[in-house]
Amino acid sequence: MIIQTLLLSLAALVAAKELPKDLVKAAQLYDSGIRHANNIALKMETFARQEAAGRLNSDLYPEIKGVVECINGTAIVEPGNANMTFRCNNIDLYHFLSHANLGSKLVGGSSTWGWTSPDGREFVAIGQRDGAAFVEINKQGKMIYLGRLPEYSIPSLWREIRGYRDLMIIGSEAPGHGIQIFDMKKLLDIDPARPVTFNNSKDLTGHFDGLPWGRTHNVVTNPATNFIYSVGAQPRNSSCASGIIFIDISDPSNPTSPGCASADGYVHDAQCLIYKGPDTQFEGHEICYGYNEDTLTIYDVTDKKKPVILSITSYEGAAYTHQGWVLDANNQHYLLLDDEYDEYEKVGPGKEGHPITYIWDISSLKAPKQTGFYRSGARGIDHNQYVIDGFAMQSNYGSGFRVLDVRSIPQDPTGKGVKEVAFFDIYPEDDAELGGGIVDFVGTWGSYAYFKSGYIFVNTMERGGFVLKMKEGTRV
Ligand SMILES: *[C@@H]1O[C@H](CO)[C@@H](O)[C@H](O)[C@H]1NC(C)=O
Ligand SMILES: *[C@@H]1O[C@H](CO)[C@@H](O)[C@H](O)[C@H]1NC(C)=O
Ligand SMILES: *[C@@H]1O[C@H](CO)[C@@H](O)[C@H](O)[C@H]1NC(C)=O
Ligand SMILES: *[C@@H]1O[C@H](CO)[C@@H](O)[C@H](O)[C@H]1NC(C)=O
Repeated sequence: MIIQTLLLSLAALVAAKELPKDLVKAAQLYDSGIRHANNIALKMETFARQEAAGRLNSDLYPEIKGVVECINGTAIVEPGNANMTFRCNNIDLYHFLSHANLGSKLVGGSSTWGWTSPDGREFVAIGQRDGAAFVEINKQGKMIYLGRLPEYSIPSLWREIRGYRDLMIIGSEAPGHGIQIFDMKKLLDIDPARPVTFNNSKDLTGHFDGLPWGRTHNVVTNPATNFIYSVGAQPRNSSCASGIIFIDISDPSNPTSPGCASADGYVHDAQCLIYKGPDTQFEGHEICYGYNEDTLTIYDVTDKKKPVILSITSYEGAAYTHQGWVLDANNQHYLLLDDEYDEYEKVGPGKEGHPITYIWDISSLKAPKQTGFYRSGARGIDHNQYVIDGFAMQSNYGSGFRVLDVRSIPQDPTGKGVKEVAFFDIYPEDDAELGGGIVDFVGTWGSYAYFKSGYIFVNTMERGGFVLKMKEGTRV
């Protein structure tokens, strides 16, 4: 009888890769916060090791001015210097500036987001340990440093930035930081000869100080509503349980919170969207796709006083459910999910140390199916990805910025038709390792690839900011 049950559950495992949440493991490892605390410690250890090895020294990374074309698999900045030779495919380098050249005194890059002015100029906000740097990317793909918004409380490696209309929403794990609301229109008239250091008491449009300890792991925005969200605001025993905290910024100078979704505890990242099918019963609702450490958790947050959890689903290989993005916001049938520790923990399809992009069919929000995955050819860890017009733009730590053509997924949700069409490996230091990369928290944290010009900004932890562009024809 026991054997029969075992065989049956094994058969179920082969047929479908989604799994119910493992309640015992969740209580021990995830809900307790042990796994996340361990993750943070690992990242800090790696960062300290990089610092001790001198790899945060911006003097090592001079400005790269000219366009460096990717030719036959490499973009060579300095012939014979392995650290100035970037592996690549179909992506050229337009400009590089170190964190010091981007105004930082305490090197340590994190996330980034971009903004396009009404007249089409392109700007980015760049997360650094000691604040956010601002640059304009000009028509030639060169960064023009315009200034910075210092950290609100104390420095932190964790600074997350997302756009909301003309505003940048900036959160951090630093205690007492709160959420900065900065108007990018302030950058329009700066003379680059005199970069501006903005002042947190005078220059913010607004500041949200309603987080339990002032720290948040991430911020989420939904420009289609008047809401931004804090996710992963510690401590876990606070009333919102580090879930999704709703923040109404219809008046951005006076952000207020009408409530939160605490029921599935800690949310590491999320995407919140007005639902546009295919499940007609949720048409027009506001749905949040939560990446909740061990599960994909889907919320209906239409009523901010009574958020509803539609489903909580884990999957084979879950180690730390990190982030993801729907394939098409206008038809929310599929989403891509990345797990930050499956490669590190050597579990599931990630066990050989290659980043896995998990594919989900979410046509039933109440019963999502994990239908397949794409395994990167490069060794490393995946971090943040955004799907833009059928291409997944991924910041995969030491293996760099990678672009997957995911347009085949609706025809073949197993992922067999997914192809990598371009990459630029911003971290040559690990290229000589076995398999061409290390499974560690180095290299790129985040990128922004939504600009109409095609310029892509990639923020890296050690070096600084890269402006890249895909070669003509890569996305056809
Ligand atoms: C690229 O490699 C091919 C095949 O090895 C070679 O024929 C070609 O000349 C190379 N192109 C450049 C620009 O180096
Ligand atoms: C490249 O960087 C690594 C790590 O910082 C260093 O150990 C190595 O000596 C550098 N190699 C060159 C050719 O500069
Ligand atoms: C920021 O502005 C406040 C209020 O005007 C002022 O007291 C403070 O000195 C300024 N801080 C800096 C660093 O200039
Ligand atoms: C909540 O958790 C923190 C540590 O994360 C602890 O210091 C505090 O005592 C806890 N509070 C309660 C009420 O349990």
